[in-house]
Amino acid sequence: MTSGSFPEIRPRRLRGTPALRRLVAETRIDPAQLVLPLFVRDDIDAPVPLNSMPGVLQHTFESLRGAVTEAAEVGLGGVMLFGVPADADKDAVGTAATDPDGVLNAATRIVVEEAGDALVVQTDLCLDEFTDHGHCGVLDARGAVDNDATLVRYRDMALEQARAGSHLLGLSGMMDGQVAAVRDALDGEGFQDVAILAYAAKYASAFYGPFREAVGSTLRGDRKSYQLDPANRREGLREAVLDVEEGADIVMVKPALSYLDLVADVSAAVPVPVWAYQVSGEYAMIEAAAANGWIDRERAILESLTSIRRAGAEAVLTYWAVEVARSLKGL
Ligand code: PBG
Repeated sequence: MTSGSFPEIRPRRLRGTPALRRLVAETRIDPAQLVLPLFVRDDIDAPVPLNSMPGVLQHTFESLRGAVTEAAEVGLGGVMLFGVPADADKDAVGTAATDPDGVLNAATRIVVEEAGDALVVQTDLCLDEFTDHGHCGVLDARGAVDNDATLVRYRDMALEQARAGSHLLGLSGMMDGQVAAVRDALDGEGFQDVAILAYAAKYASAFYGPFREAVGSTLRGDRKSYQLDPANRREGLREAVLDVEEGADIVMVKPALSYLDLVADVSAAVPVPVWAYQVSGEYAMIEAAAANGWIDRERAILESLTSIRRAGAEAVLTYWAVEVARSLKGL
Protein backbone atom coordinates (compact mmCIF):
# COMPACT_ATOMS: atom_id res chain seq x y z
CA MET A 1 0.00 0.00 0.00
CA THR A 2 1.37 3.44 -0.86
CA SER A 3 0.77 6.00 1.78
CA GLY A 4 0.80 9.68 1.40
CA SER A 5 -1.17 12.78 1.97
CA PHE A 6 -2.11 16.07 0.45
CA PRO A 7 -0.73 17.73 -1.64
CA GLU A 8 0.50 14.60 -3.47
CA ILE A 9 -2.69 12.69 -2.84
CA ARG A 10 -5.67 14.27 -4.56
CA PRO A 11 -8.77 12.04 -4.90
CA ARG A 12 -10.39 14.71 -7.05
CA ARG A 13 -8.00 13.77 -9.93
CA LEU A 14 -10.26 10.85 -10.80
CA ARG A 15 -13.38 13.02 -10.85
CA GLY A 16 -12.20 15.58 -13.36
CA THR A 17 -13.88 14.45 -16.57
CA PRO A 18 -16.95 12.43 -17.54
CA ALA A 19 -14.67 9.84 -19.18
CA LEU A 20 -12.59 9.38 -16.02
CA ARG A 21 -15.67 9.18 -13.82
CA ARG A 22 -17.18 6.57 -16.09
CA LEU A 23 -14.01 4.49 -16.09
CA VAL A 24 -13.63 4.45 -12.30
CA ALA A 25 -17.30 3.92 -11.47
CA GLU A 26 -17.49 0.99 -9.04
CA THR A 27 -21.13 0.21 -9.68
CA ARG A 28 -22.99 -0.21 -12.94
CA ILE A 29 -26.55 -1.03 -13.79
CA ASP A 30 -27.27 -3.41 -16.62
CA PRO A 31 -30.83 -3.90 -17.94
CA ALA A 32 -30.31 -7.64 -17.44
CA GLN A 33 -30.18 -6.98 -13.68
CA LEU A 34 -33.60 -5.33 -13.61
CA VAL A 35 -36.87 -7.15 -13.03
CA LEU A 36 -40.23 -5.56 -13.81
CA PRO A 37 -43.18 -6.31 -11.50
CA LEU A 38 -46.45 -6.56 -13.45
CA PHE A 39 -50.06 -6.63 -12.24
CA VAL A 40 -52.71 -8.51 -14.19
CA ARG A 41 -56.49 -8.67 -13.80
CA ASP A 42 -58.97 -10.93 -15.54
CA ASP A 43 -62.11 -8.82 -14.99
CA ILE A 44 -61.22 -5.70 -16.99
CA ASP A 45 -61.47 -4.88 -20.71
CA ALA A 46 -58.76 -2.23 -20.78
CA PRO A 47 -55.67 -1.55 -18.64
CA VAL A 48 -56.38 0.40 -15.44
CA PRO A 49 -53.92 3.13 -14.36
CA LEU A 50 -53.02 3.24 -10.67
CA ASN A 51 -53.55 6.55 -8.87
CA SER A 52 -50.83 6.03 -6.31
CA MET A 53 -48.29 4.74 -8.84
CA PRO A 54 -48.35 7.11 -11.81
CA GLY A 55 -47.25 5.27 -14.96
CA VAL A 56 -48.06 1.79 -13.59
CA LEU A 57 -51.05 -0.20 -14.87
CA GLN A 58 -53.14 -3.19 -14.00
CA HIS A 59 -52.94 -5.20 -17.21
CA THR A 60 -55.46 -7.21 -19.14
CA PHE A 61 -54.20 -10.50 -20.56
CA GLU A 62 -53.91 -8.73 -23.91
CA SER A 63 -51.96 -5.70 -22.68
CA LEU A 64 -49.75 -8.06 -20.65
CA ARG A 65 -48.51 -9.58 -23.92
CA GLY A 66 -47.35 -6.16 -25.10
CA ALA A 67 -45.73 -5.36 -21.76
CA VAL A 68 -43.63 -8.51 -21.67
CA THR A 69 -42.64 -8.18 -25.31
CA GLU A 70 -41.40 -4.68 -24.54
CA ALA A 71 -39.58 -5.93 -21.43
CA ALA A 72 -37.78 -8.52 -23.56
CA GLU A 73 -36.95 -5.98 -26.27
CA VAL A 74 -35.21 -3.62 -23.87
CA GLY A 75 -33.20 -6.51 -22.39
CA LEU A 76 -34.67 -6.83 -18.91
CA GLY A 77 -33.70 -9.81 -16.79
CA GLY A 78 -37.25 -10.84 -16.10
CA VAL A 79 -40.75 -10.02 -14.97
CA MET A 80 -42.47 -10.71 -11.65
CA LEU A 81 -46.18 -11.41 -12.06
CA PHE A 82 -48.88 -10.50 -9.55
CA GLY A 83 -52.45 -11.67 -10.10
CA VAL A 84 -55.38 -9.47 -9.12
CA PRO A 85 -58.51 -11.60 -8.93
CA ALA A 86 -62.01 -10.13 -8.87
CA ASP A 87 -63.39 -9.71 -5.33
CA ALA A 88 -65.96 -12.41 -6.13
CA ASP A 89 -63.10 -14.87 -6.68
CA LYS A 90 -61.58 -14.29 -3.23
CA ASP A 91 -62.27 -16.58 -0.30
CA ALA A 92 -60.83 -17.51 3.09
CA VAL A 93 -58.22 -19.95 1.74
CA GLY A 94 -57.40 -18.20 -1.55
CA THR A 95 -58.80 -20.90 -3.82
CA ALA A 96 -58.07 -18.90 -6.99
CA ALA A 97 -54.34 -19.21 -6.25
CA THR A 98 -54.43 -22.94 -6.84
CA ASP A 99 -56.92 -22.88 -9.72
CA PRO A 100 -54.98 -23.70 -12.92
CA ASP A 101 -57.20 -21.13 -14.66
CA GLY A 102 -56.89 -18.55 -11.86
CA VAL A 103 -55.66 -15.14 -12.99
CA LEU A 104 -52.02 -15.58 -12.01
CA ASN A 105 -51.62 -19.07 -13.45
CA ALA A 106 -53.40 -18.11 -16.68
CA ALA A 107 -51.22 -15.00 -16.99
CA THR A 108 -48.09 -17.08 -16.41
CA ARG A 109 -48.94 -19.36 -19.33
CA ILE A 110 -49.41 -16.32 -21.56
CA VAL A 111 -46.11 -14.75 -20.52
CA VAL A 112 -44.17 -17.99 -20.92
CA GLU A 113 -45.61 -18.37 -24.41
CA GLU A 114 -44.93 -14.77 -25.35
CA ALA A 115 -41.47 -14.18 -23.90
CA GLY A 116 -40.43 -17.24 -21.89
CA ASP A 117 -37.18 -17.68 -23.80
CA ALA A 118 -36.03 -14.08 -23.44
CA LEU A 119 -37.11 -13.38 -19.85
CA VAL A 120 -37.02 -15.17 -16.52
CA VAL A 121 -40.72 -15.55 -15.77
CA GLN A 122 -41.31 -15.09 -12.04
CA THR A 123 -44.49 -15.41 -10.01
CA ASP A 124 -45.49 -14.05 -6.63
CA LEU A 125 -46.18 -16.96 -4.31
CA CYS A 126 -48.36 -15.56 -1.55
CA LEU A 127 -52.03 -15.73 -0.67
CA ASP A 128 -52.81 -12.09 0.10
CA GLU A 129 -54.12 -11.22 -3.35
CA PHE A 130 -56.44 -14.23 -3.26
CA THR A 131 -57.87 -14.23 0.26
CA ASP A 132 -60.98 -12.24 1.18
CA HIS A 133 -59.35 -11.19 4.48
CA GLY A 134 -56.18 -10.06 2.65
CA HIS A 135 -53.66 -11.93 4.81
CA CYS A 136 -50.73 -13.82 3.31
CA GLY A 137 -51.93 -17.08 4.81
CA VAL A 138 -55.00 -18.91 6.04
CA LEU A 139 -56.45 -18.08 9.45
CA ASP A 140 -57.03 -20.29 12.49
CA ALA A 141 -60.23 -20.34 14.53
CA ARG A 142 -59.15 -17.23 16.44
CA GLY A 143 -58.36 -15.26 13.30
CA ALA A 144 -54.58 -15.51 13.56
CA VAL A 145 -52.46 -16.48 10.54
CA ASP A 146 -51.85 -20.23 10.81
CA ASN A 147 -48.26 -20.87 9.73
CA ASP A 148 -48.35 -24.61 9.12
CA ALA A 149 -51.79 -24.68 7.48
CA THR A 150 -50.55 -21.94 5.15
CA LEU A 151 -47.57 -24.09 4.12
CA VAL A 152 -50.00 -26.69 2.79
CA ARG A 153 -51.58 -24.00 0.58
CA TYR A 154 -48.14 -22.72 -0.55
CA ARG A 155 -47.12 -26.23 -1.61
CA ASP A 156 -50.20 -26.51 -3.86
CA MET A 157 -49.73 -22.98 -5.15
CA ALA A 158 -46.11 -23.73 -6.04
CA LEU A 159 -47.12 -26.81 -8.02
CA GLU A 160 -49.74 -24.88 -10.03
CA GLN A 161 -47.24 -22.11 -10.77
CA ALA A 162 -44.66 -24.67 -11.86
CA ARG A 163 -47.23 -26.39 -14.09
CA ALA A 164 -48.05 -23.00 -15.62
CA GLY A 165 -44.37 -22.68 -16.56
CA SER A 166 -43.02 -20.22 -13.97
CA HIS A 167 -39.22 -20.31 -13.87
CA LEU A 168 -38.74 -18.71 -10.48
CA LEU A 169 -41.20 -18.70 -7.58
CA GLY A 170 -41.16 -15.54 -5.44
CA LEU A 171 -42.04 -16.66 -1.90
CA SER A 172 -43.20 -13.43 -0.29
CA GLY A 173 -45.42 -14.65 2.55
CA MET A 174 -42.86 -14.77 5.40
CA MET A 175 -44.15 -18.05 6.84
CA ASP A 176 -41.59 -20.08 8.79
CA GLY A 177 -40.42 -23.09 6.82
CA GLN A 178 -41.94 -21.94 3.53
CA VAL A 179 -38.81 -22.45 1.44
CA ALA A 180 -38.27 -26.03 2.62
CA ALA A 181 -41.96 -26.85 2.17
CA VAL A 182 -42.11 -25.50 -1.39
CA ARG A 183 -38.79 -27.14 -2.36
CA ASP A 184 -40.08 -30.48 -1.10
CA ALA A 185 -43.37 -30.13 -2.98
CA LEU A 186 -41.62 -29.16 -6.23
CA ASP A 187 -39.06 -31.96 -6.04
CA GLY A 188 -41.77 -34.49 -5.26
CA GLU A 189 -43.49 -33.70 -8.57
CA GLY A 190 -40.39 -33.57 -10.75
CA PHE A 191 -39.94 -29.78 -10.73
CA GLN A 192 -36.30 -29.88 -9.59
CA ASP A 193 -35.42 -27.14 -12.08
CA VAL A 194 -37.95 -24.59 -10.87
CA ALA A 195 -36.01 -22.11 -8.74
CA ILE A 196 -36.95 -20.35 -5.51
CA LEU A 197 -36.54 -16.64 -4.83
CA ALA A 198 -37.08 -16.19 -1.10
CA TYR A 199 -38.26 -12.81 0.11
CA ALA A 200 -36.03 -13.61 3.01
CA ALA A 201 -35.85 -10.30 4.83
CA LYS A 202 -39.23 -8.73 4.18
CA TYR A 203 -40.17 -5.99 6.59
CA ALA A 204 -43.62 -4.87 7.77
CA SER A 205 -43.32 -1.59 5.89
CA ALA A 206 -45.38 1.53 5.29
CA PHE A 207 -43.75 1.67 1.86
CA TYR A 208 -46.06 -1.07 0.55
CA GLY A 209 -49.01 1.37 0.71
CA PRO A 210 -49.49 2.00 -3.02
CA PHE A 211 -49.16 -1.74 -3.79
CA ARG A 212 -52.29 -2.38 -1.76
CA GLU A 213 -54.21 -0.28 -4.31
CA ALA A 214 -52.45 -2.08 -7.16
CA VAL A 215 -53.72 -5.47 -6.01
CA GLY A 216 -57.04 -4.29 -4.62
CA SER A 217 -56.02 -5.49 -1.16
CA THR A 218 -58.81 -6.17 1.30
CA LEU A 219 -56.48 -6.29 4.31
CA ARG A 220 -57.63 -4.81 7.57
CA GLY A 221 -55.00 -4.64 10.27
CA ASP A 222 -51.35 -5.37 9.52
CA ARG A 223 -48.80 -8.09 8.80
CA LYS A 224 -46.61 -7.57 11.88
CA SER A 225 -47.05 -11.13 13.13
CA TYR A 226 -45.19 -12.48 10.08
CA GLN A 227 -43.21 -9.69 8.39
CA LEU A 228 -40.06 -8.39 10.11
CA ASP A 229 -39.94 -5.46 12.53
CA PRO A 230 -38.13 -2.51 10.87
CA ALA A 231 -36.12 -2.19 14.09
CA ASN A 232 -34.35 -5.51 13.56
CA ARG A 233 -31.15 -5.98 11.60
CA ARG A 234 -29.75 -9.19 13.09
CA GLU A 235 -33.11 -10.91 12.70
CA GLY A 236 -33.26 -10.00 9.00
CA LEU A 237 -29.87 -11.60 8.44
CA ARG A 238 -31.01 -14.67 10.36
CA GLU A 239 -34.06 -15.02 8.09
CA ALA A 240 -31.86 -14.89 5.01
CA VAL A 241 -29.44 -17.49 6.36
CA LEU A 242 -32.33 -19.79 7.30
CA ASP A 243 -33.82 -19.48 3.81
CA VAL A 244 -30.51 -20.41 2.20
CA GLU A 245 -30.27 -23.44 4.51
CA GLU A 246 -33.81 -24.42 3.47
CA GLY A 247 -32.80 -24.34 -0.19
CA ALA A 248 -33.47 -20.82 -1.49
CA ASP A 249 -31.68 -20.23 -4.79
CA ILE A 250 -31.82 -16.44 -4.45
CA VAL A 251 -32.65 -14.29 -1.42
CA MET A 252 -34.28 -10.87 -1.43
CA VAL A 253 -34.35 -7.87 0.87
CA LYS A 254 -37.50 -5.74 0.79
CA PRO A 255 -38.05 -2.76 0.78
CA ALA A 256 -34.72 -1.59 -0.65
CA LEU A 257 -33.72 1.98 0.13
CA SER A 258 -34.52 1.98 3.85
CA TYR A 259 -32.86 -1.44 4.27
CA LEU A 260 -29.48 -1.06 2.56
CA ASP A 261 -27.74 -2.23 5.76
CA LEU A 262 -29.55 -5.54 5.32
CA VAL A 263 -28.61 -5.74 1.65
CA ALA A 264 -24.97 -5.31 2.66
CA ASP A 265 -25.17 -7.75 5.58
CA VAL A 266 -26.91 -10.45 3.58
CA SER A 267 -24.68 -10.15 0.54
CA ALA A 268 -21.61 -10.50 2.76
CA ALA A 269 -23.02 -13.58 4.46
CA VAL A 270 -24.69 -15.84 1.89
CA PRO A 271 -23.31 -17.82 -1.06
CA VAL A 272 -26.35 -17.20 -3.32
CA PRO A 273 -27.45 -14.14 -5.33
CA VAL A 274 -28.99 -11.30 -3.32
CA TRP A 275 -31.72 -9.15 -4.82
CA ALA A 276 -33.68 -6.18 -3.54
CA TYR A 277 -37.20 -4.93 -4.22
CA GLN A 278 -37.63 -1.20 -4.76
CA VAL A 279 -41.23 -1.18 -3.61
CA SER A 280 -44.32 0.81 -4.53
CA GLY A 281 -43.85 3.49 -1.87
CA GLU A 282 -40.26 4.11 -2.95
CA TYR A 283 -41.55 4.57 -6.48
CA ALA A 284 -44.44 6.81 -5.42
CA MET A 285 -42.25 9.12 -3.32
CA ILE A 286 -39.91 9.96 -6.17
CA GLU A 287 -42.77 10.29 -8.67
CA ALA A 288 -44.71 12.59 -6.35
CA ALA A 289 -41.73 14.80 -5.55
CA ALA A 290 -40.82 15.00 -9.25
CA ALA A 291 -44.40 15.85 -10.22
CA ASN A 292 -44.17 18.80 -7.83
CA GLY A 293 -40.88 19.91 -9.33
CA TRP A 294 -39.09 19.21 -6.06
CA ILE A 295 -36.59 16.65 -7.33
CA ASP A 296 -34.83 15.77 -10.59
CA ARG A 297 -36.78 12.63 -11.47
CA GLU A 298 -34.29 10.82 -13.73
CA ARG A 299 -31.31 11.50 -11.51
CA ALA A 300 -33.20 10.41 -8.40
CA ILE A 301 -34.27 7.16 -10.05
CA LEU A 302 -30.75 6.29 -11.20
CA GLU A 303 -29.21 7.31 -7.89
CA SER A 304 -31.63 5.15 -5.92
CA LEU A 305 -30.96 2.12 -8.15
CA THR A 306 -27.21 2.69 -8.04
CA SER A 307 -27.33 2.82 -4.23
CA ILE A 308 -29.19 -0.48 -4.07
CA ARG A 309 -26.66 -2.11 -6.39
CA ARG A 310 -23.74 -0.54 -4.50
CA ALA A 311 -24.99 -1.98 -1.20
CA GLY A 312 -24.71 -5.44 -2.73
CA ALA A 313 -27.92 -6.30 -4.58
CA GLU A 314 -27.13 -8.09 -7.82
CA ALA A 315 -30.57 -7.53 -9.31
CA VAL A 316 -33.37 -5.14 -8.45
CA LEU A 317 -37.12 -5.38 -8.84
CA THR A 318 -38.28 -1.93 -9.90
CA TYR A 319 -41.35 -0.42 -11.52
CA TRP A 320 -38.97 1.79 -13.54
CA ALA A 321 -37.21 -1.20 -15.13
CA VAL A 322 -38.28 -0.53 -18.73
CA GLU A 323 -37.66 3.20 -18.61
CA VAL A 324 -34.23 2.77 -17.02
CA ALA A 325 -33.25 0.03 -19.46
CA ARG A 326 -34.20 2.29 -22.36
CA SER A 327 -32.17 5.19 -21.10
CA LEU A 328 -29.15 2.98 -20.35
CA LYS A 329 -29.29 1.75 -23.92
CA GLY A 330 -29.73 5.29 -25.23
CA LEU A 331 -33.17 4.44 -26.66
C1 PBG B 1 -47.30 -9.73 -0.87
C2 PBG B 1 -46.51 -8.63 -1.47
C3 PBG B 1 -46.55 -7.27 -1.13
C4 PBG B 1 -45.66 -6.63 -1.99
C5 PBG B 1 -45.13 -7.59 -2.84
N1 PBG B 1 -45.66 -8.83 -2.47
C6 PBG B 1 -47.41 -6.54 -0.18
C7 PBG B 1 -47.33 -6.79 1.26
O1 PBG B 1 -46.56 -7.60 1.75
O2 PBG B 1 -48.12 -6.15 1.94
C8 PBG B 1 -45.36 -5.17 -1.99
C9 PBG B 1 -44.68 -4.67 -3.20
C10 PBG B 1 -44.66 -3.20 -3.32
O3 PBG B 1 -45.05 -2.47 -2.40
O4 PBG B 1 -44.22 -2.72 -4.37
N2 PBG B 1 -47.82 -10.61 -1.85
